[in-house]
Amino acid sequence: MQNSAVRVGLIILAAVAVSAAAALLILRTGPTHAGLLRPDDAETVARGKAVYAENCASCHGADLEGEPNWRRPDGDGLLPAPPHDESGHTWHHSEKLLFDLTKYGLAATAGLKDHKTRMPVYDGVLSDEDIVAALSYIKSRWPAELQLRHTEMSAQDQ
Ligand code: HEC
Repeated sequence: MQNSAVRVGLIILAAVAVSAAAALLILRTGPTHAGLLRPDDAETVARGKAVYAENCASCHGADLEGEPNWRRPDGDGLLPAPPHDESGHTWHHSEKLLFDLTKYGLAATAGLKDHKTRMPVYDGVLSDEDIVAALSYIKSRWPAELQLRHTEMSAQDQ
């Protein structure tokens, strides 16, 4: 009687140990990215690539290269579209800020009431999921090291 109770206890202990080990393994090998964007998710990135090609590439470049001389205002005093690759400053902004800039526009997000820009406002044009997908695609194109820094920086803002 006592023997079998001990055995049951041992089995339970073993089960607990195994699940703890499994949980640790999942934590260690699971997705490294837990933010708003999903640059590691192939499906999201594929969708984002299509959304980007359709909605963003005409200004930001088919290869994320931006417009020429993007740091200098054009003849109308408006800034050309910056690149979204590592040479631009997209990666300087947190995931949440990038989402807000795209959805609500630069003026509303940055509190620049009279800021004139060619960057459209996508609220009511693209779904949240499509905006997340397009930005996930953009992020997936950055070097791994930059993605990591961006994720760490974004974690403080979400
Ligand atoms: C009609 C041209 C145009 C289209 C289309 C466009 N953008 Fe822009 N975008 C701009 C311009 C111009 C700026 C810089 C504006 C400024 O600073 O005044 C900009 C800036 C941005 C920024 C801020 C980048 C930074 O480093 O500050 C983000 C993010 C952005 N765009 C995302 C997108 C996404 C995502 C799409 C597609 C869903 C898109 N844009 C489509 C013209 C465009």
